[in-house]
Amino acid sequence: MRTPLIAGNWKMNGSAELIHAFGERFRDATLPAALDIAVIPPFPYLHAAYQAFQGTPLTLGAQTLNPLNSGAHTGEVSGRMLKEFGVTYVLIGHSERRQLYQETDDHVYARTLAALNVGIVPILCVGETLEERDGGSTMDVVLRQVGHVMARLEPEQREQVVIAYEPVWAIGTGRTATPEQAQDVMSGIRAYQGEFDAQLAQQLRLLYGGSMNAKNAAELLAQPDIDGGLVGGASLKIDDFHAICQSAG
Ligand code: G3H
Repeated sequence: MRTPLIAGNWKMNGSAELIHAFGERFRDATLPAALDIAVIPPFPYLHAAYQAFQGTPLTLGAQTLNPLNSGAHTGEVSGRMLKEFGVTYVLIGHSERRQLYQETDDHVYARTLAALNVGIVPILCVGETLEERDGGSTMDVVLRQVGHVMARLEPEQREQVVIAYEPVWAIGTGRTATPEQAQDVMSGIRAYQGEFDAQLAQQLRLLYGGSMNAKNAAELLAQPDIDGGLVGGASLKIDDFHAICQSAG
């Protein structure tokens, strides 16, 4: 009943040529009937991607947004601008933004609201560091990050949010969480949502991220509370990304 979502986060990688190649490859690709796919390139490629993905199952995502609509904020991009380029999803609170650009839970909440206000689906990223996992605080950290946003939203806003669980120690390291580790945390997130609204908890799409690849995707995606993937490195390789999409059927 939950449509799977595979989202490829290119981070600060890719090229106009790769955008074009994805459009060509996915135009006639064999894919599961019920599957949403998003490609999330750096901002400068959004327009080319918008054009190249016409007539394909690929939708567009952005990697962040500023909470404001406009203003004197050199270097920033607003949700309203992203919407003009056909952006459907936006990543919010990715661990790289939290760690490298000092984004706090408050920033994450403000960005989530900004996305919802312009009709872009926020993909709220949460996850614990290795120290936090080793210290036994994984669920506390993850539910704090989830709760800081979800508990403050109206019910109809909560329905729009996708949550990506990405253990920080699994991102870009080749060290994937085991399917059981991922499932444990994700069933905890769903149970937490169930405290607000049991129906919403069943509708909520939960993605796993962290060294997902063509080999491990099927086993991760087979877990009952994993509804898709937020794929980094492997999303830059067309064959691998296509294989991951096929695993979601
Ligand atoms: O947004 C994607 C995640 O950070 C995962 O990246 O697949 O390269 O580990 P990765």
